[in-house]
Amino acid sequence: MFHRYIWSVTTILLGTCTAFGFPNPSADCTSVPLVNATVDQLQQGLRQKCFNSVDLVTAHLSRIYEVNSTLHTVLEINPDVYGIAMRMDMERRIGHTRGPLHGIPVLIKDIIGTKDKMQTAMGSYALVGAQVPADATVVTKLREQGMIIMGKTSMSEWANVRSSNSSNGWNARGGQTYGAYHPQQDPSGSSSGSAVSTDLGLAAVTLGSETSGSILLPSSLNNVVGIKPTVGLTSRYMVVPISERADTIGPIGRTVTDAALMLQAIAGPDPKDNYTMASPFGEHLPDYAAACNLAGLQGKRIGIPRNVLDAMDPTNEAIRTAFNNAVATLEEAGATVIDNANFTAYTNFTQSMSPSIVIAADFISGLSTYLTQLTRNPNNLHGLSSLRDFVHSHPALEDYPSRDTNTWDMALGAGIDNHSPEFWALYQESLFFGDEGGILGALARDNLDAVILPTIIAPEIPALVGTPAISVPLGAFPDGTPVQYNPRGDLVAAAPGVPFGISFLGAKWSEQALIGMAYAFEQRTLVRGSLERYVEPRTEVRMGRWGFSS
Ligand SMILES: *[C@@H]1O[C@H](CO)[C@@H](O)[C@H](O)[C@H]1NC(C)=O
Ligand SMILES: *[C@@H]1O[C@H](CO)[C@@H](O)[C@H](O)[C@H]1NC(C)=O
Ligand SMILES: *[C@@H]1O[C@H](CO)[C@@H](O)[C@H](O)[C@H]1NC(C)=O
Ligand SMILES: *[C@@H]1O[C@H](CO)[C@@H](O)[C@H](O)[C@H]1NC(C)=O
Ligand SMILES: *[C@@H]1O[C@H](CO)[C@@H](O)[C@H](O)[C@H]1NC(C)=O
Ligand SMILES: *[C@@H]1O[C@H](CO)[C@@H](O)[C@H](O)[C@H]1NC(C)=O
Repeated sequence: MFHRYIWSVTTILLGTCTAFGFPNPSADCTSVPLVNATVDQLQQGLRQKCFNSVDLVTAHLSRIYEVNSTLHTVLEINPDVYGIAMRMDMERRIGHTRGPLHGIPVLIKDIIGTKDKMQTAMGSYALVGAQVPADATVVTKLREQGMIIMGKTSMSEWANVRSSNSSNGWNARGGQTYGAYHPQQDPSGSSSGSAVSTDLGLAAVTLGSETSGSILLPSSLNNVVGIKPTVGLTSRYMVVPISERADTIGPIGRTVTDAALMLQAIAGPDPKDNYTMASPFGEHLPDYAAACNLAGLQGKRIGIPRNVLDAMDPTNEAIRTAFNNAVATLEEAGATVIDNANFTAYTNFTQSMSPSIVIAADFISGLSTYLTQLTRNPNNLHGLSSLRDFVHSHPALEDYPSRDTNTWDMALGAGIDNHSPEFWALYQESLFFGDEGGILGALARDNLDAVILPTIIAPEIPALVGTPAISVPLGAFPDGTPVQYNPRGDLVAAAPGVPFGISFLGAKWSEQALIGMAYAFEQRTLVRGSLERYVEPRTEVRMGRWGFSS
């Protein structure tokens, strides 16, 4: 067995290095259940030599194998994971730690490029075997911080930009991802596996990506915290593109603080993604973890876009009730809540085709560029039409035509890429719905620090203008909730126990303030710990290994 072999190698290596660190007999090594552990708690266990990173990886891999055959959350494990963990342990033993994430295991979405033995495939066989020329910049940063990339998470195939008859969390490589709160739970998407893995403690933290909702929504339905950063705060270099105007890479954590630590690690300017050069911070980022302050809501002006809330599906009564309770919590925490901070062009937005045409046009252009950069492209893809041909000619692999290619058919039918003469006017219309007619107008009109919405209706307007949002657990559907299915009819979208979140939305580059507000809300409500799963892995990290008892 691969694991056992590596295990004995580590034991030998560590046996020769004991001078650098016996388990600490005086340390308080009370075990923290991995489903609840924070990055700080794991770091403390590492520092006090209660366990090392190899132990952490071993425990997390066991947890993945415990649940993956039911929930299909992780597509593949990094074959180099133990070597990386050993290197991080070795560095720690000689007194070198790279920062607060040193030796912490992380999983990343299959959209994020790694130049290693793993695929970067959007969940699709079309890209299996393809090779990126370099790690994504966010991956380079995680590695520099000493994080251990354990594997790639499952996702809605092509980030849910392919079919009008698919399901959240389904992809050809890994099948259907499920959430852990109800049998056949819709995990939402497209960062489905990242959110479920974070929730279940299959990794300490994960990375997702969002074009419109792909971090916020699965975070909401899986009882975790998701940060959708301002477009340009995190580099998209070597991440498979959907829309250069909307795509952003962000963390999913079990706590606001964990997500903030991860944001710190991946943010910053990158000459290989010129959107990041618009950041006002340059190399001097705000301290996002330090923004986690109980007083984060004190004196803040927070708006409610009432017209957006009123348009929410009336069957979401439980969400409405929990949202109203949250308003009271915000006020008790010192915030002023301003009602009717409406997104004035919202009705026009819901009736307009321009936002989806802009995304489609960006996808056509961005995908072609991405494909030219590959150093291996086994299916000889050169753009969206050859991608569609691949799916049409591999129906069994790609579950076609049950999962159609309608989104691609429409994109190709419109015949517009982002250099077309029609593009600019469509883009300006789409921008207006987010800008003056959307979140930026609402923030400016009432001089607000943020607006709040149930996460289920939060992502689409920020997506148009690249503004940030954070989703925090808010509650779960109560007993007696009728079971509701997704449009395809194969996933449980709402049922007793299925979680939902609340989102804080702000102006571009306002993550620091949003993190403070989200943290203050999280600490006053502690919803995450109160919800119950129907499946949960049981393996915990083995304490005091190295052949000694402690
Ligand atoms: C998880 O399950 C899916 C679906 O069976 C599979 O494709 C994937 O390889 C599994 N992951 C691991 C790490 O075994
Ligand atoms: C930004 O980068 C993209 C691709 O790297 C390029 O097509 C575009 O022209 C650049 N834009 C600016 C303003 O430099
Ligand atoms: C905001 O929207 C609500 C609900 O549609 C409406 O009743 C209210 O008049 C609007 N307020 C303003 C200031 O537009
Ligand atoms: C919505 O669209 C209509 C028709 O084009 C226009 O008259 C109206 O001003 C728009 N509303 C807003 C708030 O932009
Ligand atoms: C959509 O998927 C469902 C479930 O597989 C299938 O029954 C239905 O025929 C599909 N619809 C189309 C138009 O293919
Ligand atoms: C995680 O924390 C919650 C809330 O404190 C608790 O109910 C739950 O039992 C904990 N999980 C484990 C595995 O200890």
